[in-house]
Amino acid sequence: MSINQDDLKRAVGQAAVDYIKPHLDDDSIIGVGTGSTANCFIDALAEVKHLFDGAVASSEASAERLKSHGIPVYELNNVPQLDFYIDGADEINARLEMIKGGGAALTREKIVAAVAKTFICVADESKQVDLLGNFPLPVEVIPMARSYVARELVKLGGDPVYREGIITDNGGEILDVYNLHIQSPSQLESDINQITGVITNGLFALRNANILLLGTQQGVKQITL
Ligand code: A5P
Repeated sequence: MSINQDDLKRAVGQAAVDYIKPHLDDDSIIGVGTGSTANCFIDALAEVKHLFDGAVASSEASAERLKSHGIPVYELNNVPQLDFYIDGADEINARLEMIKGGGAALTREKIVAAVAKTFICVADESKQVDLLGNFPLPVEVIPMARSYVARELVKLGGDPVYREGIITDNGGEILDVYNLHIQSPSQLESDINQITGVITNGLFALRNANILLLGTQQGVKQITL
């Protein structure tokens, strides 16, 4: 019998807790991502909440979930360092470069990931790809720049679509860019960041993951760069 996707997400959430548990102490603050897989991690983390101080969240939604479990949530500005950041991905390749932002939390995710020493990606096997770009690349923009940025993204070979009705936690809007076959993720990440009006884009190549915990039918596989 095959294991369903929700069970794979729960398995990797638990595996991430098992991975970080030996490193936790009373002062530990953990960086926490956003999405359904990150939610599984948060739920598993609640079981060991007596072993660490608290968390920094990459979205209001994750902050609420952490608080609902009684886990203190800190402002990133008040936290000098994070040993771990744990988050999901929409796509991840063999170099542990990712597309993220399907849940519109990409900017805060990138900020928290930048602070953390170790980025652990938790994902089920459907997220593993050879080439990034089948999943539309989210780009967060300042609202008044949306049409200009969209025209510039067309010049880069993509087909941007406005994600209507979505305002991010930062007051930004999202363009989802289709039909990118991303051969050089770091280069494209930099190029998109150079477009005036872009807040950030969902390529995590300049800061990729250090460890992937991948949920498969054969169990959780740990892939380390
Ligand atoms: C949130 O903005 C995203 O980056 C998520 O981490 C990503 O979409 C993965 O979400 P799921 O775990 O729900 O697939």
